Amino acid sequence: MKTALITAAAAVGCLLTVLAPESSRVAWSVPAAPTDDVKPVEDSMHEFMEYVFQPTYLRLKANMAAAPTDNKGWKAIKADSLVLAESCNLLFSRAPEGSAADWIAHAKASREKGAALYAAGKAKDFAAAGTAWKSMLESCNACHRQFEDGKHILQP
Ligand code: HEC
Repeated sequence: MKTALITAAAAVGCLLTVLAPESSRVAWSVPAAPTDDVKPVEDSMHEFMEYVFQPTYLRLKANMAAAPTDNKGWKAIKADSLVLAESCNLLFSRAPEGSAADWIAHAKASREKGAALYAAGKAKDFAAAGTAWKSMLESCNACHRQFEDGKHILQP
């Protein structure tokens, strides 16, 4: 009997969780600054760009070639722009000694423009997405110009 009651209570609990409106879900806090727990999994900057940034950029380039015709196309743009924008946050801790300020400025600019692309994707506004896409790549390339002797100049 007791077990049945507990099972019933648990079931109601589950049901309430499922039915709960969006607003009553856990409110995730966003730390203002990275904590000591943020640690690179891959120390090599080359591997980081090659495996996080490059495939994401290539997928976005294909998906930005023409306006999406369905929600799947918009989801692809939102997904990859968010990955790039958030990944720019992970560049901060990789700044080379002596030029940290410039490095961080490039990473911030890329992040803000990546965020604009994500916002345009959310709004399904292809004109705004196109502007943000080109503008983001200018910031990516600005860092590549300064820190990579102009190698890896990415085209929209
Ligand atoms: C703060 C500086 C910085 C920013 C910002 C930056 N990159 Fe890079 N990127 C680098 C460096 C440094 C390399 C060269 C790494 C190496 O090969 O050692 C690189 C290399 C690359 C490569 C070539 C990878 C390969 O395997 O040859 C691609 C693609 C790339 N970045 C994409 C991007 C994109 C897309 C953005 C913008 C969303 C971006 N990067 C923003 C510093 C930056």
